[in-house]
Amino acid sequence: MSERKVVLANDHGAVELAAEVMKHLEARGFTVTYLGTDKAESVDYPDKAEEAVIEYRKGGYEFGVLLCGTGIGISISANKMKGIRCALPQTKYAAEKTKQHNNANFIAFGGRIDYPEPVTDILDAYIDAQFEGGRHGRRVEKMMALEGK
Ligand code: RB5
Repeated sequence: MSERKVVLANDHGAVELAAEVMKHLEARGFTVTYLGTDKAESVDYPDKAEEAVIEYRKGGYEFGVLLCGTGIGISISANKMKGIRCALPQTKYAAEKTKQHNNANFIAFGGRIDYPEPVTDILDAYIDAQFEGGRHGRRVEKMMALEGK
C-alpha cells in the first residue's frame, strides 16, 4: 500500500490538540509532516495556514489538518488560498458529509472548543468517508469557480 501523507499545522491555541491529533494519525498509519507550533508562544494562524498549504501543494498529501483556538481563523485563512476547501466540522456527521459532498482537502478544529464528540472520532469520520461525485462534483466545481470573484 502506498504511503498516506498528511500535513498538520497549528497555532499556540491548539498545541495539546495537535499532539493528540498527530499521535492518532500516526497510530492510523499516516506519515505526518508536522509544521508546528509545539510551543506556547504566540504565532499568527494565517502564517501556519499558508505554510501548510504550501507544503500540501508539493504533492502526495491525502489531506491537511489545521488547528487554532477555535479553528475559525486558520480555516478562513486556508480557504483564501487557491484550490483549498477547508472544512470546520463540529460533529462526526458534518465531517463525513464534508468529504462525501464537499470533497474537503483540509479539515480544521479548535483547541479551545468543547466538542460534543472526540476530535479524533470526528477526524476519523472525515478520513473514512469517500467523495460521492455526481451532483456533488458539479457543486464543488461551481464552488471552486467562485475563487477570485
Ligand atoms: C489566538 O489567540 C486565536 O485568535 C486563534 O487561535 C484562533 O482562535 C483564531 O481564530
